[in-house]
Amino acid sequence: MENERDIYYPSPESVRGSLAENWEELERSAAEDLEGYWADRASELVWSKPWDQVIDDSEKPFYRWFVGGETNIVSNAVDRHITGPRKNKLALLWRSEDNKETRTFSYFSLNREVVKMANILRAMGVEKGDRVTIYLPRIPEVVFAMLACAKLGAIHSVVFAGFSADALSSRIDDSESKLVITADGSWINGSVFPLKNIVDEAVRFSPTVENVIVVRRTGTEVHMDSTRDHWYHDLESLPIARGACPTVQVDAEHPLYILYTSGSTGKPKAILHTHGGYMVGTYTTLRYTFDIREEDRFWCTADAGWVTGHSYVVYGPLLAGATTLMYEGGPTYPHPDRWWELIEHYGITTFYTAPTAIRSLMRFGDAWVNRHDLSSLRLLGSVGEPINPAAWRWFHEVVGGGRAPIMDTWWQTETGMFQITGVPAMPQKPGSAGRPVFGQEAEIVDGDGNPVPDGTEGFLVLKNPWPAMARTLYKDDDRFVETYWSKYPGRYMTGDAAKRDEDGYFWIIGRTDDVIMVSGHRLGTAEVEAALNSHHAVSESAAIGVPHEVKGQSILAHVVLNQGFTGSRELVEELRAHVAAHLSPIAKPDEILFVEKLPKTRSGKIMRRVLRARALGQDEGDLSTLEE
Ligand code: WTA
Repeated sequence: MENERDIYYPSPESVRGSLAENWEELERSAAEDLEGYWADRASELVWSKPWDQVIDDSEKPFYRWFVGGETNIVSNAVDRHITGPRKNKLALLWRSEDNKETRTFSYFSLNREVVKMANILRAMGVEKGDRVTIYLPRIPEVVFAMLACAKLGAIHSVVFAGFSADALSSRIDDSESKLVITADGSWINGSVFPLKNIVDEAVRFSPTVENVIVVRRTGTEVHMDSTRDHWYHDLESLPIARGACPTVQVDAEHPLYILYTSGSTGKPKAILHTHGGYMVGTYTTLRYTFDIREEDRFWCTADAGWVTGHSYVVYGPLLAGATTLMYEGGPTYPHPDRWWELIEHYGITTFYTAPTAIRSLMRFGDAWVNRHDLSSLRLLGSVGEPINPAAWRWFHEVVGGGRAPIMDTWWQTETGMFQITGVPAMPQKPGSAGRPVFGQEAEIVDGDGNPVPDGTEGFLVLKNPWPAMARTLYKDDDRFVETYWSKYPGRYMTGDAAKRDEDGYFWIIGRTDDVIMVSGHRLGTAEVEAALNSHHAVSESAAIGVPHEVKGQSILAHVVLNQGFTGSRELVEELRAHVAAHLSPIAKPDEILFVEKLPKTRSGKIMRRVLRARALGQDEGDLSTLEE
């Protein structure tokens, strides 16, 4: 914490009139009356039936929020805007990767698109509670699809459109989706990623999938199964797509979505979020942290396939009635100033991205940034991993012109909304995520759950319930309790190590489990190993995350080969390609080491800690449980 004393005070103009200008007061009053604080926030939104109870904690850790209340997140994200002054306000701006296409949607036209898609889904038999898998790139249809499902009370499961057929198929099967919405392909740095082919492979043996809707994006030739596959543009012109579609009012606790995320062991966890609490949580945190104003143009660069896309590309901004930008491409294609160009072109006021992207752009130098007028920016944000002070300063000074404060938001798929972050008026310490959000209390504990003194590293736990908290793991209540709530009873275990300083600021260190954050993407060692182990040359493997200058972490895999195989450069490439094909290109190990055997405990568990220590040239620690 050598930078603990390094404090940036916000400029008076960035603070004046900001929504959380009186943050100390908000922090105090929420701590004194948690239920009152959240009830006030929820009252800013519309409910078709008011709640009887704000928090029901009678069956901890299965908290229920706004019990008895009825609403639909779409009633608040879309419907309430089109009956008021935001009807003609821009809701969604979209730019294509090749920079040639622009699509814009007011709240009125967004509603039209959502109604159309919801009508189509309804005609295909999608009903309240049904699961729908969405496997789409960053195009407006991903927003329409999510909102259309929510509107009907169906549960969406968005799968990042960079996952392979194996990963997609296991997620479709686990959620028992009856419908998949995809595109013919997606654009990635000028070439086509064949989404439809991947879906074909994934649903070949899926007993639950009845229909596949295909959005035309790349114009690639694809196989259409006439009994199962439908072009979206054909469906759009059918009579079934027309007419009004009422937003189904659901219980506050009705499931909104499932999102698969990596855990330390076994298969990905199906995080479940609900309509009422998630709506209140994302709405509130976005507004306070990013001080959303009517004239703002907000841009979060995340993909809708991850939680950041769910909460702060789609739901949060629309709930707040904001104007949000979605860009199809990445930060450095075809030149490393595409993002800066978009900020200038659209007059983006609030720009939220990840440290890995900042570091990769920083490497190209200031000139790419400086050729653009970025004076519209008033707030910046960071998410996904700790932001190192050098990247913080570059972001603040070069991109933000020294004016824009940086909101370093710490949270997780499980938390649904920010948990530790700054607000514009709060002094900032580069590298610290700031303080728990209003109504939250965080603590650093040792392995036994005892609080450790300030300045000491320990495990980060959350003490209070919050409305957007995951309600369970879909179909697996036991694993939910065991993973998050059993180690430190009564407190939520985050899986992160952190420190708190004397001013109450939190400094996140990183995951303490077998989760690796590669370029801000959350991957599990178990998934990478399963992909490696499915190759015929591999007997067993162990993957670990090692520090990487740009990506934060990269994957180092240790591989034991089957008899008759020898390690070679070709085999390394083959295994990397195998992981790309069987899990995702983002999960390709940067390095593969062929080893004779893996360090294991006597009970046969791989000791990744030993491999990590070896890779970093550190002390291997206590080896008493190592076999032999
Ligand atoms: C890490 C992403 C430091 C953390 C929203 C957490 C961060 C994991 C930050 C969750 C941050 C996220 N500073 N680390 N501001 N934000 N993390 O579920 O290790 O994809 O546990 O959610 O990302 O990743 P997930």
